[in-house]
Amino acid sequence: MTSMATESGHKLVKVPKPELERLGRHFTPWADGLLRLCPGHWLFPGAFAETADKIYNFKWKEEDVVVTGFLKTGTTWLQEILWTMRNNSNLDHPLANTPILDRVPIIDTDMYINPKAFRFVTPSHPLKPMLDDFRRNCPDGEATNGIYIQMAGVLPEPRTLKTHYPFSVLHPDLLEHTKCVYIARNPRDVVVSLHHMSRLFKYNNFTGTLEQFVDYFIDGDVVQGPYWLHVKEAWERRNHPNFHFIFYEDLKSDVKKELWRLNEFLCTNLTAEQLANVERYTSFGEMQSRNNFTDTKRPDNPGVKKEVEEKEGGFFRKGVTGSWTKTLTPDMVEKIDKWTNEHLSEIPFRYK
Ligand code: A3P
Repeated sequence: MTSMATESGHKLVKVPKPELERLGRHFTPWADGLLRLCPGHWLFPGAFAETADKIYNFKWKEEDVVVTGFLKTGTTWLQEILWTMRNNSNLDHPLANTPILDRVPIIDTDMYINPKAFRFVTPSHPLKPMLDDFRRNCPDGEATNGIYIQMAGVLPEPRTLKTHYPFSVLHPDLLEHTKCVYIARNPRDVVVSLHHMSRLFKYNNFTGTLEQFVDYFIDGDVVQGPYWLHVKEAWERRNHPNFHFIFYEDLKSDVKKELWRLNEFLCTNLTAEQLANVERYTSFGEMQSRNNFTDTKRPDNPGVKKEVEEKEGGFFRKGVTGSWTKTLTPDMVEKIDKWTNEHLSEIPFRYK
């Protein structure tokens, strides 16, 4: 395949070898190569071609709540907030300490682990526990059809689901019957957080400098980007009655106020005491000490570089607004701001 069309109306074009080699200089090369989606110029792993139409046709339900947002914008915090509000506002749910991703699956994961890889799983293969998990949950399923999307399909209701996909890749009817909450974060902090994650996880293993990373980010050369278009597509939907737009900075500066707004949007009718439970349970300190983003024993955990984790923090790194002030040089800030003003001048980002 050099190019194919999807039901979402995108043309998928294989990233040519010289560009792959250029990106491969500083990032771990992708087993299935990379794709550009047109329109949008999105950059996705090659396995997206296997899952694109399944994602587009995913059966959202009326009772679902979908967490949406770009990488490193606080989506994990938001998913824990929404799951806790909907399932654990009295802090007594037996599954509360299980991995967040088992309770709130990210439906994009199938493009990171090509479902075809499940054809050849031997008993000692690193994907075996994941395959066993899938078979337990979906005894009639076929792993090569995408395991996360099928596991999301059988999750008990009420489902809270998460996706980093931009709206243009999802079915346009999604918002007609399903509530979505989108989280955005100022681009300076997103760059810093994404740079850290790209060095922390071996599947990215970014080896360049921060300055080079800033260039990749603003040139649309980080996977799942460009960020600006992601935010723009969400911002355009901000007045839809089934859509709720949140800024990370607002959650940080007045979480109570944002929880009350969510309570109204989700019609959860929680009391002040229950919302205080949610606030406490999902605070950075508590989430960092539970550290249950994913189960580290599972091979779908891409593997963490211990030296980065020890020196600069793990997945729950700083959890603040404005860590860019300690990391970015004035030149980098200028570059990011110029890009932001070009593409996202209407979005009221806050930087502190
Ligand atoms: P930092 O790297 O700046 O610390 P995502 O979940 O979308 O990948 O976003 C990750 C970012 O959200 C990281 O930012 C992480 O530390 C932060 N985060 C995670 N849980 C949080 C919480 N409970 N409160 C505040 N920030 C949180």
